[in-house]
Amino acid sequence: MAKMWAGRTDGVTERIADDFNSSIHFDSRMYRQDITGSMAHAAMLAAQNIISQKDADTLIEGLSGILADLDSGALAIDMECEDIHMFVEQVLTQRLGDVGKKLHTARSRNDQVALDIRMYLRQEIDEITDLVKKLIAAVTGKAEAYKDAIMPGYTHLQRAQPITFGHHLMAYAMMLLRDMDRLADCRKRMNLSPIGCCALAGTTYPIDRQFEASQLCFDGVCLNSLDGVSDRDFCVELMSAISVLMMHLSRFSEEIILWSSWEFKFIELSDAYTTGSSIMPQKKNPDMAELVRGKTGRVYGDLMALLTTLKGLPLAYNKDMQEDKESIFDACDTVKMCLKVFVGMIDTLTANEENMKRAAQKGFINATDLADYLVKKGLPFRSAYKISGHLVALCIQQDTVLEELPLEQYRTFSPLFEADLYQAIDLKVCVEKRISEGGTSTASVQMQINKVKEMLHL
Ligand code: ARG
Repeated sequence: MAKMWAGRTDGVTERIADDFNSSIHFDSRMYRQDITGSMAHAAMLAAQNIISQKDADTLIEGLSGILADLDSGALAIDMECEDIHMFVEQVLTQRLGDVGKKLHTARSRNDQVALDIRMYLRQEIDEITDLVKKLIAAVTGKAEAYKDAIMPGYTHLQRAQPITFGHHLMAYAMMLLRDMDRLADCRKRMNLSPIGCCALAGTTYPIDRQFEASQLCFDGVCLNSLDGVSDRDFCVELMSAISVLMMHLSRFSEEIILWSSWEFKFIELSDAYTTGSSIMPQKKNPDMAELVRGKTGRVYGDLMALLTTLKGLPLAYNKDMQEDKESIFDACDTVKMCLKVFVGMIDTLTANEENMKRAAQKGFINATDLADYLVKKGLPFRSAYKISGHLVALCIQQDTVLEELPLEQYRTFSPLFEADLYQAIDLKVCVEKRISEGGTSTASVQMQINKVKEMLHL
C-alpha cells in the first residue's frame, strides 16, 4: 500500500514490513486523546493566523464528527493504517478534502504521540487512584469491624506479640496511602505538554505552545523540544509506582492465601471470590489472591521491558519507543483489574475471631509482657528477659502455657511474681496496653482509622 509519507521513497512496502511497523492494534485505544489534541492544535493554528479560522472550524467540526462516529461505532478503525494518528488524518482528509491536509502543520507524529500518551495516562492515573481509594475504604472498613479481634502478630512468620486484625489491616491502608501519593507525584511531572516540540527541533511557524497546553489542561510545557519528544520517564515512573502498588497487593494476597488455609483458618473468603477444584470436592481456592500475586510478576516485567528498551537510546525519537505502549497499557490494565477484584474480595471476607484468638494463645506471644511485668517490679530488662525465657522453656517441657502455669512454679524463678501476673499476661490486656502512637491497642488503631478517613474524606 502507498503511504501518506510517500515522496522520498515510493512509499510501497512489503506486507510483512507494514505489519511489523504498525502500532494501530494497540495505539487505537488513544483515539480520543489523539482527536482532542488535534482539535486544540487546529484552534491554535487559527489563533496564530497559521491557518484561517474558517479552515480551523472545518477541521474541528470534522474531528468532532470522527470522534462521535468512533464512539457510536458508526466508524470502525481501519487496521490497515500504520497508527491511530495516520488513521484520523486519513479519515479527516477523506471527509474534508484538502482542508484535512492542513492539520498536520507545525506538528510531527513524534510530539503528537508523546501528547497522546501523556493525556491517556493522566486519565489512567485518575482511575487507578480512584480504585486505590476504594480499596483503602474497604480495608479501613474491615479494620474498624475487627479493631479488637486478637490475633498473633508475626516476625519471621513466628508468633511474636498479640495484635489485632484491625491493626494488621491498617498497615495495608498505610501502604496504599503511599501508593496514592506516588501516583499524584507522577501525575504532576507527567502533566506537561510536549506538543509543539514537533519532530525534534521545534518549528519555524509562530506557534503558541502555552495556548495548546492550557486548552488540554496541562500545567505547562516541556522546556526542551528534544527532550519533549524522547522523554518516556513518565511511563517508567508510572510503571514503578504501579509495581510498588502491585508489590503491596501481592504481599496482602500472600497473607490472604495463608490466612484462608486450613492451617491458619483466620479468614473465610466469600464464595464469590473463590473457586473450587475439578477433582477435590473439599477445595475452596483463593484464586483471586493467587492471580494478583502472579500478575505482579507480569507488571514488573512491563517495567523492566521499557527500562531496557530506553537504555542506550540516542536522542531524539527512535522507533524503539513505539514499544512503550504495550508495556504501559498492560501495567495499567492489570493493576486496575487487580484493584477491582481486591475491593470485592476484602469487602466480602469474614474473620474467624475464635481461631485467631486460639492461635494467639498458643505461641507464648505474651512472653515480652511477662518480662515487662518483672521490669515494672524493679528487675533490669535483661534479667527479666532471661527468667521469662526459662519459664517459656518450662511450659514447653510441661506442655502448658504461661496463663496456666501455677503461681508456685513462677515463684521458684523469682519472688517478684504475684497473683496479678495473670492479669499482666492476659492477651486482651497485652493488646490494650500498647497505646503508643501507631500501636495495636483498640484506641491507637481507631486513631489510625480516623486519620485515614479524614485524609480521604471517607
Ligand atoms: N506509532 C508511532 C509510535 O508509537 C508514532 C510516532 C511515529 N513517528 C515516526 N517518526 N515514525 O511511536
